[in-house]
Amino acid sequence: MFVVSKLIIEGGHPLEGELPIHGAKNSALPVLAATLLCQGQSVIHNCPGLSDVDASIQILRHLGCQIYREGSTLTVDSQHVSTCDIPDDLMREMRSSIVFLGAIVSRMGCAKLSFPGGCELGPRPIDLHLKALRQMGLHIDEHYGYLDCKVDGKLKGTDIALSFPSVGATENILLAATVADGTTVLTNAAREPEIVDLACYLNACGARIEGAGEGTITIEGVECLHGAEHTVIPDRIAAISFMAAAAVTGSKLTIKEIEKDHLGQVIPMFEEAGCRVRCNGSQLELQAPERLRPIKMVRTMPYPGFPTDAQALVMAMVTLAKGTSVFVENIFESRYKHVGELLRMGANIKVEGKVAVVEGVRKLYGAQVEAPDLRGGAALAVAGLAAEGITQLGGLHHIDRGYESLEKSLSSIGAKVKRI
Ligand code: EPZ
Repeated sequence: MFVVSKLIIEGGHPLEGELPIHGAKNSALPVLAATLLCQGQSVIHNCPGLSDVDASIQILRHLGCQIYREGSTLTVDSQHVSTCDIPDDLMREMRSSIVFLGAIVSRMGCAKLSFPGGCELGPRPIDLHLKALRQMGLHIDEHYGYLDCKVDGKLKGTDIALSFPSVGATENILLAATVADGTTVLTNAAREPEIVDLACYLNACGARIEGAGEGTITIEGVECLHGAEHTVIPDRIAAISFMAAAAVTGSKLTIKEIEKDHLGQVIPMFEEAGCRVRCNGSQLELQAPERLRPIKMVRTMPYPGFPTDAQALVMAMVTLAKGTSVFVENIFESRYKHVGELLRMGANIKVEGKVAVVEGVRKLYGAQVEAPDLRGGAALAVAGLAAEGITQLGGLHHIDRGYESLEKSLSSIGAKVKRI
């Protein structure tokens, strides 16, 4: 019998104590794909225990890599990569499997994988990925749901200008250009910290990448890469998630192992909402006010702007603020699926296209709600912590993609949460 697990959250308990943050999902995934480029063994520390990481491990094993995990350290030996296809069932496990494309083509000269189908955030087009790889000499046949790619000889370095600073496309281009013939100059590149982390790992393996984290990245192709040891950066979105949980429950919480610079645009928002945020070294302490103030305008933007992944979490928080907050979701075209579920809990939110207007209410009420996607699901858990009564949260497979045992983390800081 198929067991549907749920989180049972009893709201109204303040949080306290301190919480370490696991490694960043959106850095671990491209770094694991990048191990395919190395003729040798890599040791990747601080890999989070997430279903998306498990899916990446399955894909790497299918391609011929030897991998074993010891706690949060993964050792990957990619001496013998023997195939270039990713079976459909593995592709469907994880939307971001497209990031393997650049790595597989660079290593094998061919790749066969299905489209990472449209997911909860709307269609997940990959036109920017394919356009850039074609510019580097990759022949791509798109037919009935999968891509058949091959290149004569090696990919060629070239100048590439992205029409949008896509994170995934930037990662695919880095993975394709690292061992290509000649130099690639990428402009309008994504600047996310996860891009910098990927470039840092690749350079440790012998790549020649300059400018990661800025708008223009120069990659000088090298013959081949050796393995390296790397520690994945902390997950800034997980950190924001627990900050929102503390803010909405009137708590004082210390979050450990964070990178303050990665929270540049977010900390001022929490301060506008009345939280006191103090950072020293890799620790962040948040003290919530009695009642939150609204945040006038939250516009999601490419990094270093406010991250789209934090939109649902901050929205859940300000549903109880004293006043009106306005959100503009500029990155994904349908990333308000959590609004319907928040309304069931008594929130007052109106969505008009990219804009969502949140009128703060005095109370939220526990309800049966369903996670529509990864961050929307985490937002519903945050709302449940502050709601009166019991919230039953389904759709945990979404949440397990991006949070290591959310119920254990929350329980460790005083929340009444259990998974049934
Ligand atoms: C990455 O997705 C993250 N995923 C997302 O996190 C994150 O929300 C997103 O970057 C933006 O920061 C991973 O890193 C695994 P994009 P990605 O390419 O690479 C459009 C989470 O919750 N676009 O920057 O898919 C696209 O439709 C996930 O951890 C094209 O039109 O994001 C979107 O509207 C959710 N054509 C916008 O660009 C393309 O070829 C941003 O996409 C590629 C993207």
